[in-house]
Amino acid sequence: MGARSPYRCAVDQLEGRTAVVTGAASGMGRAFARRFATAGMNVVLSDVEEPVLDEAVDEVAAIAADRNAEAMGVITDVADEQAVAELAAQSIDRFGRVNVVCNNAGVAGTGLVDGPGSISTKDWKWVLDVNLWGVIHGHQAFLPHLLDHGDGHIVNTASMAGHFPGHSAYTASKWAVVGISEGLFTQLKTIGSTVGISCLCPGWVNTNIAESARNRPEWAAPDALAEPSAAVEARFAVIRDQLASGRSPDDVADLVHDAVVNDSFWIFTDLSMVANLRPRFDAVLENRNPDWNHNFVDGDD
Ligand SMILES: NC(=O)c1ccc[n+]([C@@H]2O[C@H](COP(=O)([O-])OP(=O)(O)OC[C@H]3O[C@@H](n4cnc5c(N)ncnc54)[C@H](O)[C@@H]3O)[C@@H](O)[C@H]2O)c1
Repeated sequence: MGARSPYRCAVDQLEGRTAVVTGAASGMGRAFARRFATAGMNVVLSDVEEPVLDEAVDEVAAIAADRNAEAMGVITDVADEQAVAELAAQSIDRFGRVNVVCNNAGVAGTGLVDGPGSISTKDWKWVLDVNLWGVIHGHQAFLPHLLDHGDGHIVNTASMAGHFPGHSAYTASKWAVVGISEGLFTQLKTIGSTVGISCLCPGWVNTNIAESARNRPEWAAPDALAEPSAAVEARFAVIRDQLASGRSPDDVADLVHDAVVNDSFWIFTDLSMVANLRPRFDAVLENRNPDWNHNFVDGDD
């Protein structure tokens, strides 16, 4: 394996290289694709939503063409191991080598619940399939190739939900992505690999994540669509407002670009949320029960 090559990604060296982005039809993934094309990279955009993916590919191809690069789209359900393996095969076939892999596709599920026990098993499975298994499938499909040439970087999209406690499938998936990303960072350093990895933990970002149900597979359809309670409606409205007033996906794409070229592990988009983690760490270190009255997201007591 060429994992001990002295190569390090550098900003002017992204030009002419290749990035693969999952969940690239919308939101942050689409912004990453634009940003990498602007840096002169070939970009493979993949997503489950076909018409929107086509639009995104046209947009990114136009940016790439100005820089002598290309874009292509591959319909991929990241929950399907074989489909992600096929994505890797098609990307390598077209461009010879993949350098940057953004495991970014994600869904919110029903984080908006009335109380314990109200998340359906189907929802647990769907969200973990996409948000966690999607990342694992990305590692399985691309890591051997990256390790082989040694000139690559993985960006896994987790969330600040991967640091805050929460009894939801979304929280479980994002904690797991944080954990396996940090574990892979250690493994790569331990073997002296030049392959890098970053873990993106966004706060609120203005995307279409609140409309994730548009991609819910048939098998995961709710058995019965109960009218949401007033409390759920109210919480949903707050979340939509927070997303709408969140950071722009293009800002986040700049942070991702910089993390790749600087080989930085953590990518945080909201440092005030990071500061709000301190009470939890203090409680753990002092072996105290969780501070259930603390709102970790907004920092209110
Ligand atoms: N928006 C936020 O505030 C926020 C905060 C933290 C983390 N995130 C994470 O950011 C990532 C990107 O989401 P976004 O906010 O840009 O939302 P988005 O809905 O705008 O984009 C998500 C994309 O993933 C695609 N997708 C869904 N299921 C898929 C599947 N099975 N296979 C392939 N693609 C699939 C969607 O079609 C969509 O294009 C997600 O992992 C999300 O959990 C978002």
